[in-house]
Amino acid sequence: MRFSGKVIVITGGAQGIGRATAVRFLSEGAKVVIADVNADRLHATAAEIGTPETVLAVVTDVADKDQVDALVAAAVSAFGRIDVMVNNAGIAPVMDFLDVSPDTFDRVMGVNLKGAFLGTQAAARAMIAQGEGGVIINMSSINSGLANPNVATYAISKGGMNQVTSTAAVAFAPHGIRVCGVGPGTIATEIIKGAFTERAGMNAILARTPLGRLGEPEEVAGVVAFLASDDASYITGETIYPDGGRRILNYTVPVRE
Ligand SMILES: NC(=O)c1ccc[n+]([C@@H]2O[C@H](COP(=O)([O-])OP(=O)(O)OC[C@H]3O[C@@H](n4cnc5c(N)ncnc54)[C@H](O)[C@@H]3O)[C@@H](O)[C@H]2O)c1
Repeated sequence: MRFSGKVIVITGGAQGIGRATAVRFLSEGAKVVIADVNADRLHATAAEIGTPETVLAVVTDVADKDQVDALVAAAVSAFGRIDVMVNNAGIAPVMDFLDVSPDTFDRVMGVNLKGAFLGTQAAARAMIAQGEGGVIINMSSINSGLANPNVATYAISKGGMNQVTSTAAVAFAPHGIRVCGVGPGTIATEIIKGAFTERAGMNAILARTPLGRLGEPEEVAGVVAFLASDDASYITGETIYPDGGRRILNYTVPVRE
């Protein structure tokens, strides 16, 4: 029960990695606030994973500063404090580089990059006011440092997000606030099912994954929980990559059928 008495805010918490992260924190004693633009799914998830005493659902578009500020305020109002902010909401449109319109570019940056920036600001302000430190975790991706032109806007936004993590870590270190990133490889969630349903696409991923399989949302949630815990008390500004060995591989491996 490492998070007993702690309050965790998770954006994009209606499904996938965000939902698995919420379940993980609940299992370790935390109270959890999940936020998402998908109101129906968000409320259904809140009812499935906890009770009104342990889970609060706040419909939020993370690209909107007022809504992000209201989310953190709702967490403090409902549960009295905020200890961990997980900026997890994200979108990943798949398209050719030259097909990216200015509107698409702005939307992806708004959700993935500005959303993490606004979440970091809002959480840090509340944590500084509390005066007891805290942890902010940004959900990055291996695509933050690898080039896949079919998801150029996504990769660009996650590269920028790593600098949100770095700069905020230095900015808030004097307040005892740690800021870390988690950069998953390919995890079996909706975002992936939508983009990579073709076997050829899946093989391209597995041929570059030494562990030979996709990751599970729970395996990312475990890394988030570690970074949020006191076991990671001397880690800040770093992005950790649960990716099955994909980032460090310098050749392809046979796909296990
Ligand atoms: N699944 C992967 O392989 C993978 C790999 C690397 C990084 N990630 C990152 O992990 C995070 C979660 O991904 P996932 O696989 O669980 O995706 P997902 O699509 O299953 O879930 C993302 C959630 O974010 C929500 N969301 C989208 N836009 C939002 C907005 N403007 N405001 C609030 N919520 C919004 C969606 O409604 C959805 O519930 C994302 O940031 C993604 O980039 C995922």
